[in-house]
Amino acid sequence: MHPDTLLAHAGYAGDSETSAVVPPIHLSTTFCRDTDSSLPGAFVYSRAANPTRELFESLMAQLERGAQALAFASGMAASTAVFSCLYPGARVLLPSDLYYGVRKFAHSHLARWGVTVEAVDMKDMDATEDAIRNGCDLVWVESPSNPMVDIVDIAAVASIARNHGAVVIVDGTWTTPLIQRPLELGAHAVVHSVTKYLSGHSDVLGGVVVTGPDFPWPDVLSSHQQTAGAVLDPFSSWLAMRGLRTLAVRLTTQCRNASAIARHLTAVPRVRAVHYPGLESHPGHLLAARQMTDFGGMLSFEVEGGRRRALDIIGRCRVFKAATSLGGTESLIEHRASIEEDSPTPEGLIRISAGIEHTDDLLDDLARAMDSE
Ligand SMILES: Cc1ncc(COP(=O)(O)O)c(C=O)c1O
Repeated sequence: MHPDTLLAHAGYAGDSETSAVVPPIHLSTTFCRDTDSSLPGAFVYSRAANPTRELFESLMAQLERGAQALAFASGMAASTAVFSCLYPGARVLLPSDLYYGVRKFAHSHLARWGVTVEAVDMKDMDATEDAIRNGCDLVWVESPSNPMVDIVDIAAVASIARNHGAVVIVDGTWTTPLIQRPLELGAHAVVHSVTKYLSGHSDVLGGVVVTGPDFPWPDVLSSHQQTAGAVLDPFSSWLAMRGLRTLAVRLTTQCRNASAIARHLTAVPRVRAVHYPGLESHPGHLLAARQMTDFGGMLSFEVEGGRRRALDIIGRCRVFKAATSLGGTESLIEHRASIEEDSPTPEGLIRISAGIEHTDDLLDDLARAMDSE
């Protein structure tokens, strides 16, 4: 089955008891034992496993073509669950541009646990190979990256990492399994913030880790999910599946809008750079065309005039909402340097998450915000 078909049904075959087309939400935290204390069903307690969460996890495993999917309370809970598989003394390699929350967690917490963290520009394969060869247990990849929209050759990084015995994790939040499937490119696991495109309506906080068959720590990860307990609750699991039903149509429109905005911006005066892999001028364009099926709904651009002008432009937008996050139906616009502590992001950089509004309304809004100075 094509992923679009799987998504349209949210992977649900129907309920044989009621013939319901949509799954129920199992809110029960606990499940009864028989008189002899045996368990008639597969469930004991909802932190360990819950039927609604399991439906969502099974759908995600199918979409990524993975061996196991584990759902968490947020994208960061999913990411930190993966890091929790490491031992003191382990070495982690991060890309130089990545979601700031992962960088912050790595530097503030992994270091306290005796895990060494290093960063490298993963667009530079020689530097990446050197860094991995110098000793590395886990390579974290994000492509396209947040917020500079760097494209990293996932298959090449995975191949080098595997040759040196390192585990490769890809943050697939920006692409979803519809645009990029990291396990097929050689990653051991893929992490998503469900909060973004997967749930898609800016009303769910969630995360998921989908592991491939040779992920080395499946039991540690699943034990972490159950014992540390930052699990996706049943209602959020259900909302995420409801959102996933329309992922294919949402994402197609978001990619089309992002591409139109990026092309529009290339002709706007006082725009220094537009970062979108769908532009032929983007240094990662050909690579992106090879490893992605579309170029995504995220872009960033740099304006002359630095922080002050970037904030003024954002403040004049009416259709774009000035808010953090991404992947919802509404277009969002944000000054990343303001939200990232100790940010390496350029002060004049504006990040856009394209929504599903009419393209003309988005272009008019941006044109008005940038012209009226
Ligand atoms: C690429 C990426 N990964 C992970 C996360 C963290 O997800 P959450 O906010 O659901 O914890 C984010 C959040 O913005 C993100 O953009």
